Amino acid sequence: MLSLLEGRRIVVCAGAGGVGKTTTAAAIAMGMAERGLKVAVVTIDPAKRLADSLGLEELGNEPRMVDPSRFGGEMKGELWALMLDSKRTFDALIERLAPDEATRDEVLSNRIYQQLSSAVAGSQEFTAIAKLYELDQEGDYDLLVLDTPPSRNALDFLDAPGRLTGFFQGRAIKMFLRPAGIGGRLLGRGTGVVFGLVERITGVDLIHDLSVFFRALSGMVDDFTERARLVGALLTDPGTTFLIVTAPRHDPVEEAIFFHTKLDDAGMPFGGLVVNRVHTAPEGDIPDGLDEELARRVTTAAHELSALAEREAASLERLRTRLGDPPTIVVPELDGDVHDVEGLALMRGHLFAGD
Ligand SMILES: Nc1ncnc2c1ncn2[C@@H]1O[C@H](COP(=O)(O)OP(=O)(O)OP(=O)(O)O)[C@@H](O)[C@H]1O
Ligand SMILES: [Mg+2]
Repeated sequence: MLSLLEGRRIVVCAGAGGVGKTTTAAAIAMGMAERGLKVAVVTIDPAKRLADSLGLEELGNEPRMVDPSRFGGEMKGELWALMLDSKRTFDALIERLAPDEATRDEVLSNRIYQQLSSAVAGSQEFTAIAKLYELDQEGDYDLLVLDTPPSRNALDFLDAPGRLTGFFQGRAIKMFLRPAGIGGRLLGRGTGVVFGLVERITGVDLIHDLSVFFRALSGMVDDFTERARLVGALLTDPGTTFLIVTAPRHDPVEEAIFFHTKLDDAGMPFGGLVVNRVHTAPEGDIPDGLDEELARRVTTAAHELSALAEREAASLERLRTRLGDPPTIVVPELDGDVHDVEGLALMRGHLFAGD
């Protein structure tokens, strides 16, 4: 792990849903903070118990320092953690880019904006990177560890800045921003009748909302686009590295292979693999003195576990071959969930085992 992180300011833990991205990110941050760095981990929807154990029970969009006494005196550096709140990050971005208070309020209270900020595909992905950018610019952290959302497709994450920029430069928005746009040609009598009808049925003055939204936003499009570009550029920065977290099963392995290809295409730096929840075949003989029924069951379980371990080894082998034998860290399946500092410490032990 230390060699993977050598010279890096940012590490992104990406991978398929449910493979252990959040716990891996937290455990890496913990390991590096213990070694004396000031580290911030940006988590996304952590399990409640993990959030609690990091002292994140209060939702806040700013990093908080995890109380070092939780680590029993092992912490040489500082561990900061934050739970990403997409909507608040988006709002903060608007606040920063808005030319004045009136515009800011107009946008933030606008129904179209409220829908957009929480519903645009990739907005959670985008805000995660936007937050990262902000911490990189403003914080004095030695290392930032970014967890990624459980995207249907991990690629949403890579595309997010581009997709949002695309939206703001798209034809729909240009049309609204054209001077004659909203009041002019677009609203021929027919359209007006339709929108009037919508308003009567739903009670929502859609046209008013739309026009306010786009008028307020028109002055911010260039800044927003520029910001999205900078945020996207962070992902290709040589100080950034991507770890692909995966489980040794068919689907996450396929997704990892695909994601790796896309990272490569996008010129984003791939650092290595974390293969999580790996099972090992049991060793030794069945203990003596079990009654027949129990001995039979233990034997069956041992066979099943061996078969599982074999399948996993084959998946892992295939993955490593396809990725050109990258640096790989294997974390075993642990007993029980990883939801407290002890669990994280175990995970950290495996992640840093070679160091
Ligand atoms: N090595 C492990 N052994 C046992 N349980 C684990 C291990 N790693 C993670 N878990 C558990 O698996 C579950 C999923 O882990 P985690 O939340 O980190 O995955 P994720 O990739 O972030 O998921 P999502 O895509 O939903 O965000 C958690 O309950 C966690 O405690
Ligand atoms: Mg997660």
